[in-house]
Amino acid sequence: MRSANGQRVRCPYHGWNFNYEGNLKDLPRAECFPNLDKSAVYLAKGRVETWGGFIFVHSEAEGESLVSYLAGFSAYLEQYQHRWQELQQVDHWFYEEPANWKFPIENYLECYHLSVVHAQSLKCFDPKNIIYTPTGRHYQIFVPFTDDEFVKDHPAFSGEPRGQSYQGFIFPNMMINTARDKVSVFRLTPLSPTRTKFEVFIYQTKAQIEAFPYKQDEFRPEFERVLNEDFGVVRSLQASVHSKAYGVLQLADIEYGISHFHQVLSKYYQP
Ligand SMILES: [Fe+2]
Repeated sequence: MRSANGQRVRCPYHGWNFNYEGNLKDLPRAECFPNLDKSAVYLAKGRVETWGGFIFVHSEAEGESLVSYLAGFSAYLEQYQHRWQELQQVDHWFYEEPANWKFPIENYLECYHLSVVHAQSLKCFDPKNIIYTPTGRHYQIFVPFTDDEFVKDHPAFSGEPRGQSYQGFIFPNMMINTARDKVSVFRLTPLSPTRTKFEVFIYQTKAQIEAFPYKQDEFRPEFERVLNEDFGVVRSLQASVHSKAYGVLQLADIEYGISHFHQVLSKYYQP
Protein backbone atom coordinates (compact mmCIF):
# COMPACT_ATOMS: atom_id res chain seq x y z
CA MET A 1 0.00 0.00 0.00
CA ARG A 2 2.29 2.75 -1.19
CA SER A 3 0.27 5.43 -2.81
CA ALA A 4 -0.94 8.20 -0.49
CA ASN A 5 -2.68 11.01 -2.29
CA GLY A 6 -4.65 13.80 -0.66
CA GLN A 7 -6.89 12.30 1.99
CA ARG A 8 -6.69 8.76 0.66
CA VAL A 9 -4.30 5.82 0.69
CA ARG A 10 -4.65 4.00 -2.60
CA CYS A 11 -3.48 0.47 -3.37
CA PRO A 12 -1.47 0.71 -6.61
CA TYR A 13 -2.49 -2.79 -7.70
CA HIS A 14 -6.34 -2.81 -7.71
CA GLY A 15 -7.06 0.75 -6.64
CA TRP A 16 -8.83 0.23 -3.31
CA ASN A 17 -9.01 3.53 -1.44
CA PHE A 18 -8.67 3.90 2.31
CA ASN A 19 -8.91 7.01 4.43
CA TYR A 20 -6.19 7.97 6.91
CA GLU A 21 -7.97 6.06 9.65
CA GLY A 22 -7.41 2.99 7.49
CA ASN A 23 -11.08 2.41 6.63
CA LEU A 24 -12.02 1.25 3.14
CA LYS A 25 -13.88 4.08 1.42
CA ASP A 26 -14.29 2.96 -2.17
CA LEU A 27 -13.03 0.53 -4.75
CA PRO A 28 -13.22 0.21 -8.54
CA ARG A 29 -16.08 -1.91 -9.88
CA ALA A 30 -17.62 -2.46 -6.48
CA GLU A 31 -20.34 -4.60 -8.14
CA CYS A 32 -17.69 -7.36 -8.38
CA PHE A 33 -18.01 -7.70 -4.58
CA PRO A 34 -21.79 -7.89 -3.99
CA ASN A 35 -21.38 -9.17 -0.42
CA LEU A 36 -18.60 -6.86 0.66
CA ASP A 37 -19.05 -5.17 4.03
CA LYS A 38 -16.77 -2.16 3.63
CA SER A 39 -16.84 -1.41 7.34
CA ALA A 40 -15.17 -4.77 8.00
CA VAL A 41 -12.20 -4.00 5.73
CA TYR A 42 -9.46 -1.78 7.13
CA LEU A 43 -5.70 -1.49 7.08
CA ALA A 44 -3.52 -2.86 9.85
CA LYS A 45 -3.27 -0.23 12.56
CA GLY A 46 0.10 1.17 13.54
CA ARG A 47 1.26 4.10 15.63
CA VAL A 48 3.16 7.29 14.92
CA GLU A 49 5.01 9.28 17.55
CA THR A 50 7.59 12.02 17.30
CA TRP A 51 10.65 13.16 19.13
CA GLY A 52 12.71 16.21 18.17
CA GLY A 53 10.97 16.52 14.83
CA PHE A 54 11.74 12.91 13.87
CA ILE A 55 8.78 10.67 13.12
CA PHE A 56 8.88 7.15 14.52
CA VAL A 57 6.46 4.55 13.22
CA HIS A 58 5.47 1.47 15.18
CA SER A 59 3.88 -1.28 13.16
CA GLU A 60 1.50 -2.21 15.98
CA ALA A 61 -1.26 -0.08 17.46
CA GLU A 62 -0.55 -1.14 21.05
CA GLY A 63 2.68 -1.54 22.94
CA GLU A 64 5.54 0.42 24.33
CA SER A 65 5.45 4.21 23.93
CA LEU A 66 8.24 6.07 22.16
CA VAL A 67 9.27 7.79 25.41
CA SER A 68 9.68 4.43 27.06
CA TYR A 69 11.43 3.00 24.01
CA LEU A 70 13.98 5.82 23.87
CA ALA A 71 14.74 5.14 27.54
CA GLY A 72 16.56 8.37 28.29
CA PHE A 73 18.41 8.59 24.99
CA SER A 74 16.41 11.70 24.14
CA ALA A 75 17.53 13.39 27.38
CA TYR A 76 21.12 12.70 26.36
CA LEU A 77 20.60 14.31 22.94
CA GLU A 78 18.79 17.28 24.45
CA GLN A 79 22.09 18.41 25.93
CA TYR A 80 22.93 19.60 22.41
CA GLN A 81 22.91 23.39 22.39
CA HIS A 82 20.39 23.62 19.55
CA ARG A 83 16.74 22.70 19.63
CA TRP A 84 16.06 19.47 17.79
CA GLN A 85 12.57 20.61 16.75
CA GLU A 86 14.14 23.51 14.84
CA LEU A 87 16.33 21.38 12.61
CA GLN A 88 15.59 21.50 8.90
CA GLN A 89 16.87 19.00 6.37
CA VAL A 90 19.51 20.60 4.12
CA ASP A 91 20.80 17.48 2.39
CA HIS A 92 20.03 13.79 1.91
CA TRP A 93 21.83 11.14 -0.09
CA PHE A 94 22.44 7.43 0.13
CA TYR A 95 24.73 4.54 -0.72
CA GLU A 96 24.03 0.89 -1.37
CA GLU A 97 26.81 -0.90 0.43
CA PRO A 98 27.73 -4.54 -0.25
CA ALA A 99 27.56 -5.57 3.39
CA ASN A 100 25.16 -7.00 5.92
CA TRP A 101 23.31 -4.18 7.74
CA LYS A 102 24.85 -5.13 11.09
CA PHE A 103 28.43 -4.48 9.99
CA PRO A 104 28.15 -0.70 9.51
CA ILE A 105 26.41 -0.59 12.89
CA GLU A 106 29.19 -2.55 14.59
CA ASN A 107 31.66 -0.20 12.94
CA TYR A 108 29.78 2.83 14.24
CA LEU A 109 29.49 1.46 17.78
CA GLU A 110 33.20 1.49 18.51
CA CYS A 111 35.80 4.20 18.12
CA TYR A 112 38.73 1.87 18.73
CA HIS A 113 39.38 2.00 14.97
CA LEU A 114 39.44 5.82 14.94
CA SER A 115 43.19 6.26 15.20
CA VAL A 116 43.84 3.59 12.55
CA VAL A 117 41.10 3.93 9.92
CA HIS A 118 40.55 7.67 10.39
CA ALA A 119 44.09 8.54 11.45
CA GLN A 120 44.13 11.68 9.32
CA SER A 121 40.49 12.48 8.68
CA LEU A 122 39.16 12.58 12.26
CA LYS A 123 41.99 14.18 14.18
CA CYS A 124 39.38 16.56 15.56
CA PHE A 125 38.27 13.94 18.13
CA ASP A 126 39.99 12.80 21.28
CA PRO A 127 39.50 9.00 21.11
CA LYS A 128 40.92 8.26 24.56
CA ASN A 129 38.21 10.26 26.30
CA ILE A 130 35.11 9.03 24.51
CA ILE A 131 32.39 7.96 26.93
CA TYR A 132 30.20 5.03 25.93
CA THR A 133 26.91 4.52 27.76
CA PRO A 134 24.38 1.80 27.04
CA THR A 135 20.91 3.36 27.31
CA GLY A 136 18.07 0.90 27.06
CA ARG A 137 18.44 -0.72 23.65
CA HIS A 138 20.53 2.19 22.46
CA TYR A 139 24.08 3.40 22.90
CA GLN A 140 25.43 6.84 23.70
CA ILE A 141 28.82 7.79 22.31
CA PHE A 142 29.91 11.06 23.86
CA VAL A 143 32.86 12.27 21.81
CA PRO A 144 35.08 15.14 22.98
CA PHE A 145 36.82 17.38 20.49
CA THR A 146 40.52 18.02 21.00
CA ASP A 147 41.74 21.34 22.35
CA ASP A 148 43.13 22.35 18.97
CA GLU A 149 41.63 25.48 17.39
CA PHE A 150 41.48 23.72 14.03
CA VAL A 151 38.43 21.72 15.16
CA LYS A 152 36.33 24.85 14.56
CA ASP A 153 36.94 24.52 10.85
CA HIS A 154 37.13 20.75 10.55
CA PRO A 155 35.58 20.00 7.14
CA ALA A 156 33.54 16.96 8.24
CA PHE A 157 32.93 17.40 11.99
CA SER A 158 33.35 20.89 13.37
CA GLY A 159 33.21 21.73 17.04
CA GLU A 160 34.46 23.98 19.77
CA PRO A 161 37.93 23.12 21.13
CA ARG A 162 37.30 20.87 24.16
CA GLY A 163 33.64 20.80 23.15
CA GLN A 164 31.57 17.68 22.63
CA SER A 165 29.82 15.84 19.87
CA TYR A 166 26.72 13.98 21.03
CA GLN A 167 26.72 10.82 19.00
CA GLY A 168 24.92 7.57 19.34
CA PHE A 169 22.91 4.72 18.03
CA ILE A 170 19.15 4.35 18.32
CA PHE A 171 18.31 0.68 17.96
CA PRO A 172 17.79 -0.80 15.47
CA ASN A 173 19.07 1.35 12.60
CA MET A 174 19.59 5.05 13.31
CA MET A 175 22.75 6.94 14.17
CA ILE A 176 22.92 10.58 15.17
CA ASN A 177 25.96 12.88 15.28
CA THR A 178 26.01 16.49 16.36
CA ALA A 179 28.54 19.09 15.30
CA ARG A 180 28.89 22.82 15.85
CA ASP A 181 27.28 23.66 12.54
CA LYS A 182 24.98 20.74 11.74
CA VAL A 183 23.54 17.37 12.69
CA SER A 184 24.04 14.26 10.60
CA VAL A 185 21.80 11.22 10.81
CA PHE A 186 22.40 7.80 9.26
CA ARG A 187 19.57 5.38 8.58
CA LEU A 188 20.24 1.82 7.53
CA THR A 189 17.84 -0.41 5.63
CA PRO A 190 18.72 -4.04 4.91
CA LEU A 191 18.18 -4.81 1.21
CA SER A 192 19.47 -8.38 1.32
CA PRO A 193 21.74 -10.38 3.65
CA THR A 194 24.73 -8.74 1.94
CA ARG A 195 23.40 -5.37 0.82
CA THR A 196 22.42 -2.34 2.84
CA LYS A 197 20.99 1.05 2.00
CA PHE A 198 22.94 3.64 3.98
CA GLU A 199 21.22 7.01 4.01
CA VAL A 200 22.74 10.26 5.19
CA PHE A 201 20.54 13.17 6.30
CA ILE A 202 22.02 16.57 7.12
CA TYR A 203 20.10 19.03 9.28
CA GLN A 204 20.64 22.58 10.47
CA THR A 205 18.63 25.01 12.54
CA LYS A 206 17.87 28.42 11.08
CA ALA A 207 20.62 29.92 13.25
CA GLN A 208 23.10 27.33 11.98
CA ILE A 209 22.06 27.94 8.38
CA GLU A 210 22.76 31.65 8.86
CA ALA A 211 26.06 31.18 10.67
CA PHE A 212 27.33 28.25 8.58
CA PRO A 213 25.57 28.21 5.19
CA TYR A 214 25.49 24.64 3.93
CA LYS A 215 27.66 24.11 0.85
CA GLN A 216 26.88 20.73 -0.60
CA ASP A 217 29.85 20.66 -3.04
CA GLU A 218 32.29 21.29 -0.23
CA PHE A 219 30.79 19.27 2.59
CA ARG A 220 29.66 16.07 0.85
CA PRO A 221 33.10 15.05 -0.50
CA GLU A 222 34.73 15.67 2.89
CA PHE A 223 32.08 13.75 4.78
CA GLU A 224 32.14 11.02 2.17
CA ARG A 225 35.89 10.68 2.62
CA VAL A 226 35.33 9.66 6.26
CA LEU A 227 32.41 7.39 5.36
CA ASN A 228 34.46 5.69 2.66
CA GLU A 229 37.15 4.86 5.19
CA ASP A 230 34.51 3.00 7.18
CA PHE A 231 32.88 1.45 4.12
CA GLY A 232 36.30 0.11 3.10
CA VAL A 233 36.80 -1.88 6.29
CA VAL A 234 33.15 -2.92 6.38
CA ARG A 235 33.40 -4.30 2.83
CA SER A 236 36.55 -6.20 3.80
CA LEU A 237 34.74 -7.63 6.79
CA GLN A 238 31.83 -8.75 4.63
CA ALA A 239 34.20 -10.30 2.09
CA SER A 240 36.05 -12.29 4.73
CA VAL A 241 33.21 -13.26 7.06
CA HIS A 242 32.61 -16.56 5.26
CA SER A 243 36.26 -17.54 5.52
CA LYS A 244 36.92 -20.56 7.71
CA ALA A 245 39.72 -18.52 9.23
CA TYR A 246 37.35 -15.75 10.30
CA GLY A 247 36.84 -15.34 13.99
CA VAL A 248 36.49 -12.54 16.51
CA LEU A 249 39.62 -12.79 18.63
CA GLN A 250 39.04 -10.29 21.40
CA LEU A 251 36.79 -7.32 22.04
CA ALA A 252 38.15 -4.33 23.94
CA ASP A 253 36.10 -2.73 26.72
CA ILE A 254 35.53 0.23 24.45
CA GLU A 255 33.97 -2.10 21.89
CA TYR A 256 31.25 -3.16 24.32
CA GLY A 257 28.69 -1.44 22.08
CA ILE A 258 28.97 -4.36 19.67
CA SER A 259 28.14 -6.92 22.37
CA HIS A 260 25.33 -4.72 23.66
CA PHE A 261 23.84 -4.41 20.17
CA HIS A 262 23.89 -8.17 19.64
CA GLN A 263 22.42 -8.86 23.07
CA VAL A 264 19.51 -6.54 22.30
CA LEU A 265 19.08 -7.91 18.80
CA SER A 266 19.12 -11.54 19.91
CA LYS A 267 16.03 -10.93 22.08
CA TYR A 268 14.09 -10.08 18.92
CA TYR A 269 15.11 -13.33 17.30
CA GLN A 270 13.86 -15.46 20.15
CA PRO A 271 10.52 -17.17 19.44
FE1 LIG B 1 34.75 4.86 11.54
